[in-house]
Amino acid sequence: MTRSWVVIDHEALRHNLAVLRRAVGAGTELCAVVKADGYGHGALEVARTVLDAGAGALAVAHAHEGAALRAAGVQAPILLLSEPVDAAELRAVVEHRLQSAVYSEAGIDALAATGAELDVHLKVDTGMRRVGAEPADALTLAVRIARSPGLRLRGLWTHCAVADEPDNAFTAVQVERFAEVADRLRRAGFEVPVRHVGNSAALFAHPGSHHDMVRPGIALYGVAPAPALAAHAGVAELHPVLSWHAPVTMVKRVPAGEGVSYGHHRRTGRETVVATVPVGYADGLPRRWGLRDGVVLIGGRRCPILGVVTMDQVMVDCGPDAEVTRGDEAVLIGRQGSAEVTATEMATATDTIAYEILTRIGPRVERRHVNG
Ligand SMILES: Cc1ncc(COP(=O)(O)O)c(C=O)c1O
Repeated sequence: MTRSWVVIDHEALRHNLAVLRRAVGAGTELCAVVKADGYGHGALEVARTVLDAGAGALAVAHAHEGAALRAAGVQAPILLLSEPVDAAELRAVVEHRLQSAVYSEAGIDALAATGAELDVHLKVDTGMRRVGAEPADALTLAVRIARSPGLRLRGLWTHCAVADEPDNAFTAVQVERFAEVADRLRRAGFEVPVRHVGNSAALFAHPGSHHDMVRPGIALYGVAPAPALAAHAGVAELHPVLSWHAPVTMVKRVPAGEGVSYGHHRRTGRETVVATVPVGYADGLPRRWGLRDGVVLIGGRRCPILGVVTMDQVMVDCGPDAEVTRGDEAVLIGRQGSAEVTATEMATATDTIAYEILTRIGPRVERRHVNG
């Protein structure tokens, strides 16, 4: 029993992986970012398809995300994108052979103290100001790793802060700072096998970020990292992987001038057919989408949402002449005939980014995998 479902198209996933492969060339490995349940698409299913299609590694944000992939039989390298935060995460890193990020003496020492043989990736903060070592400290930390029995310095990496702004010169600054650190380590005798910088935006817009591996997330799922990059060659070739569907559960004819939904923020302009669809903000549909020209596709048309999205349901203005019946399919994200509504459009109208729309599609929404 399900009131709404997303369809995850694995053919689109494979297509996007091929687009990414062409963008970076044969010498650069693809590390598929599957944190946050594969950006809402289902981490395990996404992981299986992309590994089968040639991705060389996976990346997660929480150790338990990596543990779940291992428990399901995934053998590929799994990168943990920040240092373990507690003893449970440390245990998961050891037990499930996760390749942890490191960037502090405490983080290195905690991993070394487990006594396990572990590959680690030294992260340098070149300008994101989130996690990572200062470039000036990278060599000292590399030496500390080398002196820690059991730890192997497998990766050296950084993360870009503004790569989704094509005209922002700061990405080139970060790429340059990273190259300097890599060079300093090389001159000190560290041959780090896997250097990686590029997220989706950087790998398309900044070829200098390719190195040995790139870490695409959003592009894998067929969504442009930012509207400003949508027309970029490569990005324009991506196919959205996810679409979101639900049945119409009630249809009523509402007179002109009636308020609809909580607060009566919107009124019918004329007598019209209103359809109720069982998806709400508790499922991840932004509440204010209804106040910002939000639409739902019904009968192959873009129909305006009437008023705020409620917790579990949303009301849609299908128009005075609409022939809608209970059970008809509504599309929240995706295509119906020639009509389309995208996660990016929903995000822009509600002051956020497509990443947030996708990762907030909640657990009540069934995931249906096709073309797997
Ligand atoms: C460290 C790191 N690398 C790579 C990615 C993937 O980024 P994108 O989805 O923009 O490709 C993320 C996502 O937030 C990240 O945090």
